[in-house]
Amino acid sequence: MVSLMKWSDDLLIHVDDIDDQHRNLFLIINRLIVHKKTNGPREELLDFLHVLVAYSQAHFRTEAQHMADAHYPLAQEHSEEHVEFTQTIQAFMRDYDKGTEDLCDKMLTFLRLWWLSHVADADQKFGEYLKEEGYVP
Ligand SMILES: [Fe+2]
Ligand SMILES: [Fe+2]
Repeated sequence: MVSLMKWSDDLLIHVDDIDDQHRNLFLIINRLIVHKKTNGPREELLDFLHVLVAYSQAHFRTEAQHMADAHYPLAQEHSEEHVEFTQTIQAFMRDYDKGTEDLCDKMLTFLRLWWLSHVADADQKFGEYLKEEGYVP
């Protein structure tokens, strides 16, 4: 059983809209984990997945905008991580729509680990840059 994602204020990067989105993303993934645990209906799962995809795309756009505004030198390699995530989840959803894939622990583990490590590493690095450059206090 995949364990729930736990928010920690250590993950804050002190940009309000980005931090709020990160908290919401953790909540959306937890809903998927609970859905699997409680054997929820398949249509509901698909709704949650679509919410996750739409919300993550909006989040990536928010980060890209902040990175452009702050002239972040690692914006390109950061956005490549976002693209990789998007490709992985879209491939999964295509299989899911076709009925050849079920919500498996492998997918939930991927979501959980990707978001934890991306927020703790790549996003944190951007937060440190913003601090060093005086964009955030
Ligand atoms: Fe992020
Ligand atoms: Fe990011």
